[in-house]
Formats: sequence, structure tokens, C-alpha cells
Amino acid sequence: MEFAGFTLRNNLFVAPMAGVTDRPFRVLCKKLGAGLAVSEMVTSNSLLYGSAKTRRRANHEGEADPISVQIAGADPKMMAEAAKHNVDNGAQIIDINMGCPAKKVCNVMAGSALMQDEALVAKILEAVVGAVPNTPVTLKFRTGWNHENKNAPTIARIAEDSGIRAVAIHGRTRSDQYRGNAEYDTIALVKSLINIPVIANGDITTPEKAKHVLDVTKADGVMIGRAAQGRPWLFREIEHYLKTGERMPAPKVEEIHQILREHLHDLYAFYGEDSGVKIARKHISWYTKGLVGSAHFRHTMNQLDDVAAQLAATDEFFQLQAAASERLCYQETDNDNNEEALAA
Ligand SMILES: Cc1cc2nc3c(=O)[nH]c(=O)nc-3n(C[C@H](O)[C@H](O)[C@H](O)COP(=O)(O)O)c2cc1C
Repeated sequence: MEFAGFTLRNNLFVAPMAGVTDRPFRVLCKKLGAGLAVSEMVTSNSLLYGSAKTRRRANHEGEADPISVQIAGADPKMMAEAAKHNVDNGAQIIDINMGCPAKKVCNVMAGSALMQDEALVAKILEAVVGAVPNTPVTLKFRTGWNHENKNAPTIARIAEDSGIRAVAIHGRTRSDQYRGNAEYDTIALVKSLINIPVIANGDITTPEKAKHVLDVTKADGVMIGRAAQGRPWLFREIEHYLKTGERMPAPKVEEIHQILREHLHDLYAFYGEDSGVKIARKHISWYTKGLVGSAHFRHTMNQLDDVAAQLAATDEFFQLQAAASERLCYQETDNDNNEEALAA
């Protein structure tokens, strides 16, 4: 896919998720089939550029091009400076976040709260595009502020007029938070109105759903967040389905065991062992959710505090899975992801 001046492997995007889409996860998703992975949001408050968290978020060592960095904020000048700062530090695409309903973002009128003030949106977009003239800028937003104010079409036109190169739209309003189902009519409407690429996002969980959303919206690509947590290989499954119309067989237990092991080692190296073990817990939980015996395993694993014990427990769990079946075999899935999303 041609996207903002880059040729991507396909039209499948990893949604930015604070606390999830760190460098280890982005690298893995790109390796397993994603065309592009947008980084976690970086604050536009330049006072925080020096914090360890912000510096880690800006670390892209070993990540395949193009590097897309998301920024958030409500002040045009600060957003312009943040864009410049990130381009100086390796960003090849700047993505502006107007899609996040999180309180700590919306209280300062950033994220999806910004959609209320269309004049300010225009100022921010123009300031950012003007600050990094040689770098494409993309925009992520929701269908509107609330159901009475679904102004995504207006925001999309402002974006196109401001020089934004592509938009990603989550099919919910800000007031929906993560409740109800994403709707795709508004995304289809936006696609019919503008000439820059439109990426559809929200509740895409399977290859069939990805195809359905592409068909009904005529969007140029799809963006996947929660469904990729613990299943970074979902991207190659969707890629295969879109090419052939057929589902890939479930992955072999042995392969996913190795992928998870490498993911864990990356997390320990990226965050240091103490934080790495804690951060790894949620990923291990996502990988194993729905597999036989996972509830008990997750409970035990969450109490382990060191790398050796965490790896040994993970190995033991996957050896049991392999003894029972050559390929991963999910039972019923639960709704833990929704709780996670509501907290974001
Ligand atoms: C844990 C979590 C963190 C998120 N953080 C961000 C963020 O930093 N920036 C952003 O634009 N959207 C963020 N989102 C929203 C996602 O990018 C995406 O729009 C949303 O989850 C809907 O897609 P999905 O149904 O495929 O998960 C976050 C979502 C979750 C679940």
C-alpha cells in the first residue's frame, strides 16, 4: 500500500495503545504481518522530553521503517514543537491523536475532546504540518464528540485542507468511550468525501471482520488494537485471508511459545528485569487467555517476581499445551480486553 509517501507491505495497521504498543510489541507486529505500527502517544509537553518514560517511548532501535510517532496536546505551538522534536529524533511520520477519550488526556482538551473545537483543530493541524514540511503528518480521531455531534466528516475535510496525508477513524464517539459496537457508516461517509487515505478502526477482531469493514467502508486500510494484544500474528492471518479468501490454520504451539519467549526477552532488555517482569505479565496473560488451564496459570504467574521463574512457568505452560495439541487451541474468550480498554 502507498501511504504518506511510503510503500507498506500491506494495509494493516497496529493501533497506538499507550502501555501496549511499545517498541518490543511494534517490532513483533511488523515481523508478523503488520504494514505499520503507530507508537504510543508522546506528550507535547516539552518539559517532559527528558523523562525516562518519554525517552523510552521515543526509542525505535531495530524497528522497521517507517517509524510513526503519535503526539497529543491542545496547544498548536507546543504540538508543532513536539512534532519537530520527534522528527529530529527519528520519526518518519507524525500522527496526531484526537481519538483518545482518556481522562488525563481529555481534561487538558487533547485527544478526542479537541473534536469539539473545529477552529482549534485547524490551527493545530496547520501548525504541525507547517513545522515539519518534509515529514508526512497523519491524524487519528473518532466519529465525533457524541451522537448528536458526529463531526468526523468536517474534521476530515479540515484535515485534508491542512495537508494531513491520511486519517484513521475509530468508529465510536468520544462519549461512547469503548461502549457499544463500533459503527462503520460514518467511516464510509468520510471515505466518500475526501481524497486522502482513510483507515478504519474499531472492533476488528478476525480476518472476516477485517474484510467486512474494508468492504462496507471502502477504506484504504484497517487498524487493529485490542484484538492484537497477545496475538501479534493476527496481522499475517488477516493478510492471508484478504489475499486468498481462506483462513490460515491456527499457529503451532511451538512457534507461539518461541515468539512469546523472544517477546519476553525483549521486554526484559527494554525495561530492565524488574519492570520487564511486571510488564510481561499482562502480555503473557493475553497470549494465554482462552487456552486450556490458563486461568490457573495466570493466577500463579502473576505472583512470580523474577525472570527465571516467569520463563520457567511460561515454558511449563506451553509444554503442556504442546503435549495436548500441535496447534494452539482457544476455548471461549472472555472479556478482559474491554476492562483494559475502559481504563485507557
Ligand atoms: C490500552 C489502550 C490504550 C490506547 N492508547 C491510545 C493512544 O495512546 N492513542 C490513541 O490514539 N488511541 C489509543 N487507544 C485507542 C486505540 O488506538 C483504538 O482506537 C481503539 O482501541 C479501538 O480499536 P480496537 O477495537 O481495534 O481496539 C488505546 C486503546 C487501548 C485499549
